[in-house]
Amino acid sequence: MSLVLGLDLGTSGLKAVALDAKGQKVAEARVGYPLHTPRPGWTEQDPLDWARAARQALKALREQLGAAEVVGLGLSGQMHGAVFLDKAGNPLGRAPLWNDQRTALEVEQIERAIPRRELIRRTGNPAVTGFQLPKLLWLKNQHPELYRALYKVLLPKDYLAFVLSGALASEYSDASGVGALNLAEKGWDTEVLQALALSSDLFPEVGPSERVVGYLSPAWAQETGLKAGIPVVAGAGDNAAAALGLGVSRHRAGVGSVSLGTSGVIFIPTEHPTPEPEGRIHLFAHADGGYHLLGVTLSAAGSLEWLRGLFPEVGLETLLEEAAQAPLGSEGLCFLPFLAGERSPYLAPHLRGAFLGLSLAHRRGHMVRAVLEGVALSLAEVYQVMRPLGEAQRLLATGGGSASDLWLGLLGGALGVPIFRVVGDEGAARGAGLLALVGAGVYPGLREALQATAPPEQPAPSPQGGLEPLRKGYVQAVEKVLELSRGKNQ
Ligand code: XUL
Repeated sequence: MSLVLGLDLGTSGLKAVALDAKGQKVAEARVGYPLHTPRPGWTEQDPLDWARAARQALKALREQLGAAEVVGLGLSGQMHGAVFLDKAGNPLGRAPLWNDQRTALEVEQIERAIPRRELIRRTGNPAVTGFQLPKLLWLKNQHPELYRALYKVLLPKDYLAFVLSGALASEYSDASGVGALNLAEKGWDTEVLQALALSSDLFPEVGPSERVVGYLSPAWAQETGLKAGIPVVAGAGDNAAAALGLGVSRHRAGVGSVSLGTSGVIFIPTEHPTPEPEGRIHLFAHADGGYHLLGVTLSAAGSLEWLRGLFPEVGLETLLEEAAQAPLGSEGLCFLPFLAGERSPYLAPHLRGAFLGLSLAHRRGHMVRAVLEGVALSLAEVYQVMRPLGEAQRLLATGGGSASDLWLGLLGGALGVPIFRVVGDEGAARGAGLLALVGAGVYPGLREALQATAPPEQPAPSPQGGLEPLRKGYVQAVEKVLELSRGKNQ
């Protein structure tokens, strides 16, 4: 039996799966690593921890697979992070991550150098604190001695390709989250980079997601038990890879996905690189040769996790049961999920969350229910901005929160789009594996691979009706909180 491996370099750990040619999972391994937060708003990980985790996960998979032959390995990972490498290929320190907020000044610097609308027209997005480009400027501004030693800046999963095979390469989906990829031309935007006095040589070359960028090195083969020379396939940023894993691509019109993970994400494929003119939602390259819209509510299941942490003696199941007992609208309690600032559609890192309308009558179940409702309404605001550019006839649900019938019902009601669950959802690691099936030549192209591996779908619980009055209250509350935060955002 010929198998492929898919690796997803997440924020809390690395997940690796082995898939057969039908896309079925035959083995899995997970390895965690620490997240460092040396200052408020800073998030970092050590690229050497990532490499160690990949080594352990590959070894664990190899041990489970017995005699089966591995014909390819694909990568996926958290987007936007910056691995700064010197000429010898050593990281120049820890990598700042996608949710790091240290670059407010560099974002201003980018906005001064390139008019906002022009940057959105070229790259699909305005300057965003979490993206890689402002991180590179931060290194230049704050650590000129390290910047002088800098040879290449890599995205997290591309660093794994480098350690596995020596390749210095990227692919369109993840590269479009750097903030300097010209989306129509699918190449580094030299005019944007020149305006910031940065050389395009600092970035790796960029190509399609299913491209073989290198081959597993003899050293890694020896350490993991895999064969040297296995093709390493470029892969995709985690959102694009997760979408492929669900079968969401431009080859299936009208189908998008909605994720209730730590962050909440709506993903809709599009054929053309047409951005939202104000950049309130992202436009990135998809891993299928097309593009996709992406809206991000930063704290979705993250909000629920935060609330759960306040009641350590109670399990999540009990909390969700209590929420189900509370009436729709949580008896006037409204939750705004901006615990870590917000991306779509407000782009306001300093925005903060709130419970509004608390009374003596409110109990814990009301608070949990308000969180579920608030996240659903927040994603509805995202979809509102997205819809004129890309409408979905149905959305495939993914992420830990999608296991809750109550939450999916609220989400279906808030979005007004039928929601389905997918059987055997393995997240981004599956998408990375599917790209490896194409790169290794098991399928002639992605369309054929997706057709042959399409996972079965089940309708989610019926949408909750009667959310319109809640939506109005939610929008008014957001306006108030935006007003309060305005001073801080300036
Ligand atoms: C997307 C984003 C996150 C990261 C985290 O823009 O920031 O989804 O990719 O995994």
